Amino acid sequence: MAEVKASPLKHFVTAKKKINGIFEQLGAYIKESATFLEDTYQNEELNPVTTEEQVQEVQSYLLKVAGIGEVLARRQMKVVFFGRTSNGKSSVINAMLCDKVLPSGIGHTTNCFLKVEGTDGSEAFLLTEGSEDKKNIQTVNQLAHALHQDEDLDAGSMVCVMWPKAKCALLRDDLVLVDSPGIDVTTELDSWIDKFCLDADVFVLVANSESTLMQTEKSFFHKVNERLSSPNIFILNNRWDASASEPEYMEEVRRQHMDRCTNFLVDELGVVDRAQASDRIFFVSAKEVLQARVQKSQGMPEAGGALAEGFQARMFEFQNFERRFEECISQSAVKTKFEQHTMRAKQVSEALRRIMDSVHIAAQEQRVYCLETKEDRFERLEFIEKQLDLLTMDCKAKIKKLTEEVERQVSNTMAEEIRMLHMLVDDFHLDFHPSPVVLKVYKNELHRHIEEGLGNIMSQKCSSSITSSIQAMQTDMIDGLKPLLPPSVIEQVDSMVPRQSFSLTYDLACDKLCSDFQEDISFHFSLGWTMLVSRFVGPKNTRRALMGYSDQVPRPMALTPVSTSMPPFPQSSMTQEELMVSMVTGLASLTSRTSMGVLVVGGVIWKAVGWRLIALSLGLYGLLYVYERLTWTTKAKERAFKRQFVEYASEKLQLIVSYTGSNCSHQVQQELAGVFAQLCQQVDVTRQNLQDEIHDMNSKIELLDNLQSRAKLLRNKAGWLDSELNMFTQQYLQHSK
Ligand code: GTP
Ligand code: MG
Repeated sequence: MAEVKASPLKHFVTAKKKINGIFEQLGAYIKESATFLEDTYQNEELNPVTTEEQVQEVQSYLLKVAGIGEVLARRQMKVVFFGRTSNGKSSVINAMLCDKVLPSGIGHTTNCFLKVEGTDGSEAFLLTEGSEDKKNIQTVNQLAHALHQDEDLDAGSMVCVMWPKAKCALLRDDLVLVDSPGIDVTTELDSWIDKFCLDADVFVLVANSESTLMQTEKSFFHKVNERLSSPNIFILNNRWDASASEPEYMEEVRRQHMDRCTNFLVDELGVVDRAQASDRIFFVSAKEVLQARVQKSQGMPEAGGALAEGFQARMFEFQNFERRFEECISQSAVKTKFEQHTMRAKQVSEALRRIMDSVHIAAQEQRVYCLETKEDRFERLEFIEKQLDLLTMDCKAKIKKLTEEVERQVSNTMAEEIRMLHMLVDDFHLDFHPSPVVLKVYKNELHRHIEEGLGNIMSQKCSSSITSSIQAMQTDMIDGLKPLLPPSVIEQVDSMVPRQSFSLTYDLACDKLCSDFQEDISFHFSLGWTMLVSRFVGPKNTRRALMGYSDQVPRPMALTPVSTSMPPFPQSSMTQEELMVSMVTGLASLTSRTSMGVLVVGGVIWKAVGWRLIALSLGLYGLLYVYERLTWTTKAKERAFKRQFVEYASEKLQLIVSYTGSNCSHQVQQELAGVFAQLCQQVDVTRQNLQDEIHDMNSKIELLDNLQSRAKLLRNKAGWLDSELNMFTQQYLQHSK
């Protein structure tokens, strides 16, 4: 049928589908958002970008929206039919359903509220209030019987007639029709309104066109109007077929009814404008429509049977009513049933959008902070690396300079001290005795004395200045490197360096150095041949000179073994006797070779000084010999020993001057390089810390990027849902009635 195909009820159906879809998406979206926020909130790596309140807020939306979704899914359009007994309320419903669903007529007075609702099954059944029992009903008579049998039913109870949707288009479109007992048979109108009317979208007053609107009917709708704001009311003047019997009054009666009904709706209730009133007042015959529709469904002509004059017009008017009613109820139901929830959904999506926005902004702020921190750490790292290079170069140069200085200072001081060695040796007092055992002890003690003495003097002269230079250098290094150290170390660095008080060791090893020393403390006459020769030609050439005169004189044994590293101290290595022999043989050879010359010279001297002088000279010579022989005491021997030792040790020590200098400079270099390395290690800690921080920042930035894009996505989704809701509002809620 044309009227079914284009049913305006579809407006509600599609709107319901649409809003349910939106709510489903909204629910899923809130669920996603709640999970996202919870995860974000619990992520300890980040500073909170969301708050506990936000998480709870979104979770509360989850429940709310789920609740609303459930309500929306159950939403139906509801129309309630009222009127006095036997006006044809049940007949109108049957006519609309195109079937005898509800009992009507004599003996079938409706005695309770009857709700006709669609069921997906093919069997009709009955549900009574407060009971899950499904009573099967095949025919309207069975229903009537069932209703009659139930003694618990009264005018204030509700029975639900579940009618197969397959049998009726109206029921497929979520329409629920409610029949009621006649309003003239009850005193419980108020409770009826509370119980059955508050969620009704449309009220239909089924009036009897054979009489005028009664006060009971009017007062009932006054009550409805008081409880509901501007209810949708239709007035059906039923039994209009009766007018066909008196066609001459028809127009007049119709006008009278129309005027009264219009006044009632417009002036008394104020629910419609006068212009719209004609769309709410209809003159119909339910009995005829039902009969025609049943006949048609049984394949018979709808206009067949005993139908009164003007049936087609009344049929048309009924259809017109149905159309207006459907338009009205679907528009109204969409508005009343969906508008508030749409607004609520908009608020929720807006709130979520705001939350996601704030998360996005918070994440953005943190990201910027992380980027800045990362950049800062990068710059610091670069600065540290450059600075460290510069400082390393600088330190190397300084250390080099200082070590050179130390080497020079130590060498100079040592050379100077070697020159003053005799004083040190003179200060040595130990009983001296030429016996080898005592001499050995004496030498050992002397070595220790020199080592100690020299060491002390060296450290007095060098160590303090070197130590202070080293400390100054260390302070320099610390000051230079301090800004590059980790903060935790900066406070401790002063106590860290110097690690231990540094002192130079000179390591002179005197005993080893002088182990080869061999003294000569035998008596030598100062005017003896050897001494004279050595005085004139120098001690070094004495032996050579002496040996040169006589080849037959056996080469004296070198008493000092030749050392490769240290040249032997030249010794006058001949005994007195040997010298005498050598002298005599020398004289003999002289005589033999230059006897003539000597004779001449001797003659000359003899003549010049005379034999007395010669005798005197020889006497004096002898006396001197005796004197010297007598004064060659232990003391003298000690002096000779010391003199020889000084000479020997000076020469030996001279050899290790540069070695000692470089040894000291090496010690200084080691000390400073050690301190510098220790500081560099701490700088490495700083660098590692910075690199760790950069790594941290990178992973945080990645996390925040991810978070931001999710927040953005969710924010956009909220925007999309909002636009969907706006479209829904525009399409379904902003229609003028
Ligand atoms: P209660 O349930 O008792 O309140 O009555 P009701 O309003 O449901 O009326 P119902 O549909 O039972 O109709 C009562 C009688 O009126 C029945 O016998 C119907 O056949 C008859 N009737 C209903 N509509 C019309 C109509 O349009 N024209 C005529 N002539 N009779 C009708
Ligand atoms: Mg009835």
